[in-house]
Amino acid sequence: MKQEFIDPWASALPKDYLDLVKKFGLEKFEAGNLPSVNLLMRRGFVFAGRDLKTIFDCIKNKKPFYALTGIMPTADKVHFGTKSVIDLMVYFQKHGAETYVLVADLEAAATRGTSLEEARKRALEVHIPCYIALGLDAKKTKFYFQSDNDDVRNLAFELSNKATLNEYRAIYGNAEPSRIMASILQVADILHPQIKKKIPGIVPVGIDQDPHIRLARDIARRSGFIPPSSVNMKYLPSLAGGMKMSKSEGNSLYLLDSDEEIKKKISKAVTGGQKTKQEQEEKGGNPDEDMIFELFRQHLIESDSELKKREEDYRNGRLLDSENKEFATKLLIKFMKDFRKKYESAKKQVGKLRF
Ligand code: TRP
Repeated sequence: MKQEFIDPWASALPKDYLDLVKKFGLEKFEAGNLPSVNLLMRRGFVFAGRDLKTIFDCIKNKKPFYALTGIMPTADKVHFGTKSVIDLMVYFQKHGAETYVLVADLEAAATRGTSLEEARKRALEVHIPCYIALGLDAKKTKFYFQSDNDDVRNLAFELSNKATLNEYRAIYGNAEPSRIMASILQVADILHPQIKKKIPGIVPVGIDQDPHIRLARDIARRSGFIPPSSVNMKYLPSLAGGMKMSKSEGNSLYLLDSDEEIKKKISKAVTGGQKTKQEQEEKGGNPDEDMIFELFRQHLIESDSELKKREEDYRNGRLLDSENKEFATKLLIKFMKDFRKKYESAKKQVGKLRF
């Protein structure tokens, strides 16, 4: 069998999530094991992870654990998909996790050529305030820049001694110096909270980051750390549909988008509807391959019964694309209005944080 790899630095969407779970030995995420799960967990968007039981037990028994994630500030906007990661961080924070959110400025410099200044500016002006506005408690979250954190950098050098080039080939398929540096640093990010206290940790990330998790778990075992758990969510496909992630900005929603941008993007979104009103009324549409419904499910409609009713109406031809889009636009504009307010006050808080 040809060996397959996940490339953390590419941006292809997996076609079959269950297949990934099997191929890479992930665990299926079972929402039933956790208290008051959020909408992404409940609706199957959070689909996999590693060593989840360890963290479920910590939550159940109120034992200490940490949650940590990182972002590469390669854009000056926050993609709506990133909201899912932060929603999970908020969930863990509310359930007792020490929380860490790092800005992967060194990784961005090594693998994307983003300057450290640019990364810092974007993180302070946009990314960190957006994360706080999404519900992370600024006082209880440790934000840091990779380039500032001596503990992390020193740990990375120490841990580099525990990995081999063969292992890199097995996990990543290839090994370039920039990628080796970035991934060892990421392992250090993930393990560093354990320097002061050996407690379990969980890393919410897109499935594209799983190779780093595997590396971190291997290195942890060899160096006396607790192997980190992880949890993965599905991606928010681009509004252009085809369940592909798109680089083109016009096809993706961003936090802080203006009302005009929202209207334009939603109007162009690909739906599962029929070509004409008459056809839609006769045959109905398919909400399973519809970017508007994808938004409803992942972000906009909290009530399961309301969502179900809307899906049924759509399937039965009682709901037209135009009506559905109008409703999505309304919900998004409302969400963004509230979000912008929170963002402005979060920006003031960030001004007072020490980095
Ligand atoms: N590699 C991640 C990305 O591409 C960023 C990152 C750096 C990260 N360190 C991390 C994510 C630690 C999770 C945990 O976005």
